[in-house]
Amino acid sequence: MNILRHLALLLCLCASLSSAQQQPARSFTDAARGPTPITESTKPPVLGNAINDDVRRTRGWATQPPTIPHRVDGYQIDKNFNKCLDCHARARTETTQAIPVSATHYMDRSGRVLGQVSTRRYFCMQCHVAQENARPLVQNNFQDVDTVIQRAMQTQKANEKATKK
Ligand code: HEC
Ligand code: HEC
Repeated sequence: MNILRHLALLLCLCASLSSAQQQPARSFTDAARGPTPITESTKPPVLGNAINDDVRRTRGWATQPPTIPHRVDGYQIDKNFNKCLDCHARARTETTQAIPVSATHYMDRSGRVLGQVSTRRYFCMQCHVAQENARPLVQNNFQDVDTVIQRAMQTQKANEKATKK
């Protein structure tokens, strides 16, 4: 009797497992990819007209690489020449009025300060990007640290007022 019951339970378990395996894969949609299956490449829209307004943008956090407020199409960056450093190198900024690259760009990975821009920072556009005037693909409600602190202080003040009454 007991053995029979166990067998029945086992059968049930096997049946439920196999039915779970047979379920069709759920379709996956990502806002950036659209309905293109994960195994295929998407056709991204062509980049056209990068923002070129020369207005430096606020950084989201202290160590964010600032975005580039000017066009950089066709700038040469290879072993012979770095167009970005032609303006942004410390020695060039008096004539170009570009913002000099900061001290971190002269440090190697052990934190030693070098006499020239570190090879880790040579390919500027690994970290810095120009901006397109495009609609954001995904929603973002990131708040920078100043906003967070300000909000916290406001609620604290409001709470203090409420307890005084
Ligand atoms: C002709 C000179 C020139 C060249 C070449 C140049 N820049 Fe600039 N860059 C500037 C100037 C001037 C500014 C200040 C804002 C402005 O006028 O656009 C600036 C601003 C920036 C900023 C904003 C910094 C901040 O703190 O907000 C970044 C990042 C930047 N450039 C990166 C680059 C990169 C990367 C390249 C190469 C692909 C490059 N620049 C090439 C002149 C130049
Ligand atoms: C590995 C990433 C990385 C690379 C590569 C890189 N940067 Fe940066 N850059 C940063 C970060 C992070 C900051 C902001 C924090 C800091 O200054 O270290 C920054 C800051 C800057 C600033 C603002 C400096 C200031 O004092 O406000 C300029 C201008 C700049 N970079 C230009 C360049 C140029 C030109 C190159 C190429 C020669 C370059 N960066 C390569 C990460 C990078």
